[in-house]
Amino acid sequence: MDTVKILSLLIRTIAKPVANTIKNRTKSNPKFRTMCISVAQLTHKAEMNLKMKFLGYNKEKIRPLNDAKAIEAGANFLGESIIFTIAGSLIVFETLRTRRNKANERNEMSDNITMLLSDRMRLENLVVKQQEVLDELREEVTELKEHHEAVTKMLDEILTVSMRDFMRRGQF
Ligand SMILES: *[C@@H]1O[C@H](CO)[C@@H](O)[C@H](O)[C@H]1NC(C)=O
Ligand SMILES: *[C@@H]1O[C@H](CO)[C@@H](O)[C@H](O)[C@H]1NC(C)=O
Repeated sequence: MDTVKILSLLIRTIAKPVANTIKNRTKSNPKFRTMCISVAQLTHKAEMNLKMKFLGYNKEKIRPLNDAKAIEAGANFLGESIIFTIAGSLIVFETLRTRRNKANERNEMSDNITMLLSDRMRLENLVVKQQEVLDELREEVTELKEHHEAVTKMLDEILTVSMRDFMRRGQF
C-alpha cells in the first residue's frame, strides 16, 4: 500500500509540468480546451459511479464539473496518463531487453561449451595420433638397436678372425 502511495505521488509530481503545459495549451487552443473538458467530465462521471457503487456514496445525479475545475482535472489526468504510459513502456522495454540479453548470454554459453567440447575431441584425437607416431618411433629405435648390435657382433667376429689369421701368419 505504501509503495503504491509513493508511486502515485511520484507519478503525480513528475506529471505536474506536463499537466501545466496542457493547461497552458487549453488557453490558446479552444479545440484542445473542449477535448480536455470532456475528458475531465468523463473521468469525473466514471469516478463518481465507482464511488457510489463501491464506497457507498449517496446515489444522486452526477453534476458535471465547472469549466475551471474540469480543465484542472483533465490536464492532471492527461499528464498523469502520459507519464504512466511512458513509465509502463520503459518497464516493458527494459524487461524485454533484459530477457533478450539473458537469452543471448545463454546461447553464447552453449556455443562456448560446444566449442570447448569440439576442441577437447580434437586434442584427444591429436594425442592418440601422437601416441601412434611415438609407438612407431619406439619400434624403429628397437629395430635399429638390434641391427646395431648384430653389426657390432659381426665386426667383432671379423676382427677376431682377422687378428687370429694375422698372428698365425706372423708365426711362419
Ligand atoms: C504557461 O504560459 C505562460 C505564459 O504564456 C508561461 O509564462 C509559462 O511558463 C507557461 N508554463 C508552462 C508550464 O509551459
Ligand atoms: C564465450 O567465450 C568467449 C571467449 O572465447 C568469452 O569472451 C565469453 O565471455 C564467453 N561467454 C560466456 C557466456 O561464457
